[in-house]
Amino acid sequence: MAAPGTTGDEGGRQPGPTENIDSILTEERRFEPPASFSAGAHVKSLAEYQALRDAAERDPVAFWAGLARDELHWHRPFTSAFDDSRAPYYAWFGDGLLNVSFNCLDRHLAKNADKTAILFEGEPGDTRRISYAELHRRVCRFANALKMRGIGLGDRVIIYMPMVPEAVVAMLACARIGAIHSVVFGGFSSGSLRNRIEDASARTVITADGGHRGGKVIELKAACDTALSEGCKSVETVFVLRRAGNHVRMQHGRDLWWDEAESNLADECEPVWVDGEHPLFLLYTSGSTGKPKGIQHASAGYLVVVAATMKWVFDIRDSDIFWCTADIGWVTGHSYVAYGPLACGATVLMYEGAPTVPDAGRFWSICARHHVTIFYTAPTAIRALMKLGESFPARYDLSSLRLLGTVGEPINPEAWMWFHRVIGHERCPIVDTWWQTETGAIMIAPLPGAITTKPGSCTRPLPGIDADIVDANGHSIADFAQGGELVIRKPWPSMLRAVWGDDRRYRDTYWGKFDGRCYIAGDTAHRDHDGYFWILGRSDDVLKVSGHRLGTMEIESALVAHPRVAEAAVVGKPDETKGESIFAFVVPRGARPTGDAAGTLSAELRAWVAQQIGPIAKPDHIRYADSLPKTRSGKIMRRLLRDIARGEAITQDTSTLENEEIVRQLQGEP
Ligand code: WT7
Repeated sequence: MAAPGTTGDEGGRQPGPTENIDSILTEERRFEPPASFSAGAHVKSLAEYQALRDAAERDPVAFWAGLARDELHWHRPFTSAFDDSRAPYYAWFGDGLLNVSFNCLDRHLAKNADKTAILFEGEPGDTRRISYAELHRRVCRFANALKMRGIGLGDRVIIYMPMVPEAVVAMLACARIGAIHSVVFGGFSSGSLRNRIEDASARTVITADGGHRGGKVIELKAACDTALSEGCKSVETVFVLRRAGNHVRMQHGRDLWWDEAESNLADECEPVWVDGEHPLFLLYTSGSTGKPKGIQHASAGYLVVVAATMKWVFDIRDSDIFWCTADIGWVTGHSYVAYGPLACGATVLMYEGAPTVPDAGRFWSICARHHVTIFYTAPTAIRALMKLGESFPARYDLSSLRLLGTVGEPINPEAWMWFHRVIGHERCPIVDTWWQTETGAIMIAPLPGAITTKPGSCTRPLPGIDADIVDANGHSIADFAQGGELVIRKPWPSMLRAVWGDDRRYRDTYWGKFDGRCYIAGDTAHRDHDGYFWILGRSDDVLKVSGHRLGTMEIESALVAHPRVAEAAVVGKPDETKGESIFAFVVPRGARPTGDAAGTLSAELRAWVAQQIGPIAKPDHIRYADSLPKTRSGKIMRRLLRDIARGEAITQDTSTLENEEIVRQLQGEP
């Protein structure tokens, strides 16, 4: 059965929602906010939540404008809060002037200069505490270094760095001078880096010699050299942070060591006041086509909602040690490692490495040693650590924790319960937060002092967020058992503003389907009789592998770029730990390999995809066939391939296949 709300043809992903609905409809457990938590929370009760929602519904623009005035420092106040004259290219707070780095740093100095802004732990075990005063100095100095190399308002800067405080310094330094940063995840290959540099026409790359991850040194500068050797003519300067101490090549005139570039520069740098709509950053993410899209966020609207959600969802307080485990290369790292916590003057913990170095107790050891109070991570990490048993968390004192959170993919009730019992000691509320690179900030999540949680549900939309579930005609689905397309009906300040360089793709992808009447998230979901949202999965050709978003087309393009591959089709296969694993069906050039030859080619193709995109995109399974199953109109029958990958009985009509033998090959029969 095709998911309601999807087209029902062979193109969409159709996660087959019925199976999920059955399992979650039987989920009867409820967890009320602990009274002691509610008492001290920013939003203390369902009634307070409802009052905020009502206010936002009565007058959304006034609601957001009020927050924008309360949450941010304005150099010049805005007079126009919202402009929909160019819908769906909406604008918020467009004529106000502000600076994001000023909001994250300077305004805290009077009261909190000595407060720790970033508490850092490297994978090898080194630790650092950086106060707000020091972070301010470091951002100013580095902003001055960028200026020395001619970087200014509107220039694009690529940041390709390990999870170290300097990654945040680099982001804020860009924001200080109005440059637009685009962080590229350090796990992406030189090829992915090059594509992003070229798409953004970046003038500068900020990188490091290397970073520590999984007991190895990830050679970022070397990858950067490879990317720059094959194009990227726009790049004039490469800043290189010394982190791992590995040997790197420095190109005279182009490459500068970070420390040398900023030596002798001033500790002060006047912020450049930009208008509310000035682009703060681009972040590339996968979509249904082969080419990642540069999601563009605006300065003011983005910061308002990340700051508000720090209070609503994370209930942030002055005394908290907030730890979000996401890498700075993903939107979660932008919103809840860098901008959200710093906008609130909070202390944020940053960890450089893998969760299993030196052993599976690392996360819990960090929580215990640094007295982490709020811990935010991905379901995939929870499931992986859950598999390794309770003895690791049992070794550490986790009593400082008061709130837990998850993001990136649906969390199965079993993992939720484990998180609740073994990590939260049945004391900490869990916030399951639904949002996307495009939404900038959390959209659907419980307010921990106000909303009763249910394992596996992200519960209810935040104040001001008009989320709905609709059928193929865009009509709201009333029947709670029926799944549909997740949409947001009204614009909100932290929404994406554009796909970099592709206005059409922005309009078509996000507003195309229902005559521009609502934002289309690309997820399927359903709602229960309490109005709680349950996310079922993607409705497009996007996979969520360990919480990371990967386009099937992107992986297919990488595969067909290999000389031994004629054709390839990639689908997702449910995976207990990773959520989805990557299953590739490959039509080789020349004879179809079997036995050892197939094993050898598969190893080569996996390494190839790792090199083309990054290790996260490596297919977990590869199967060879003489051709791929196609419809009469020539479309690959993805649904059939999904059934085969799952080892499920084929319910589809395969009579149109030119060669039925192919199905047996695809099923892996010799
Ligand atoms: C996609 C967005 C938002 C930060 C990390 C991912 C899935 C995200 C949840 C959740 C179920 C979730 C959706 C969404 N997703 N959070 N709590 N429950 N699914 O950002 O890479 O832009 O991916 O992640 O499918 O569309 P992203």
